[in-house]
Amino acid sequence: MNKILVAPSILSANFNHLEEDIKKVEEGGAEWLHFDVMDGHFVPNISFGIPVLKSIAHSHHMVNDVHVMISDPFKYAPEFIKAGANYLTFHYEACKSDKEVFQVIDLIHDYGAKAGLSVKPGTPIEKVYPFLYSLDLVLVMSVEPGFGGQAYIPESFTKIFKLREYLKNNEIKNVLIEVDGGINEETAKNAKLAGVDILVAGSYIFGHEDIKERIEKLK
Ligand code: DX5
Ligand code: ZN
Repeated sequence: MNKILVAPSILSANFNHLEEDIKKVEEGGAEWLHFDVMDGHFVPNISFGIPVLKSIAHSHHMVNDVHVMISDPFKYAPEFIKAGANYLTFHYEACKSDKEVFQVIDLIHDYGAKAGLSVKPGTPIEKVYPFLYSLDLVLVMSVEPGFGGQAYIPESFTKIFKLREYLKNNEIKNVLIEVDGGINEETAKNAKLAGVDILVAGSYIFGHEDIKERIEKLK
């Protein structure tokens, strides 16, 4: 069984005391910090951007796991990496062609970050297969992107499982599988059984008194 990493999503943090919330999850055992960037165009919500990332990226020792739910990842990737993104994950559905997907992956690597590709619930997992030799991470959305606090889509199990099998059968070793949306103690079991490496969780972690216990329960 691979080591499960937890990536709290700051979308659910209290921005009135963000530093305190980040400290709590880091002390609670989170290895990654997930930034859900939304542009109000690719998804029907606006969250935060480069100034927020810049101000907190170096204030902790977790991996800065930036998930851009934006329409033009090619244009903004360099700025997010310069602001402190260690992993930059963009959406397959935001690109007009496979060629463009490869261009964004190459750009992320040129700027020194790891490249992730995310698929919405309605996009077949097979769509990411052509890019796996170039990617460092695949993010399976287990909710429709745009908002925290939604219910986990059970079909996500099959997408994660099929991707895990494909990586194994094709001996592709260095691609992490991450899941994002509706993750709690119960749904984490489902995602882990399917073969996930990293669990993104927002509303299950932030805003509760027992953050450390919650993070441990996910692992
Ligand atoms: C959806 C967001 C959420 C967030 C996690 O666009 O990406 O999935 O990370 O929120 P919870 O854990 O509350 O579903
Ligand atoms: Zn996310």
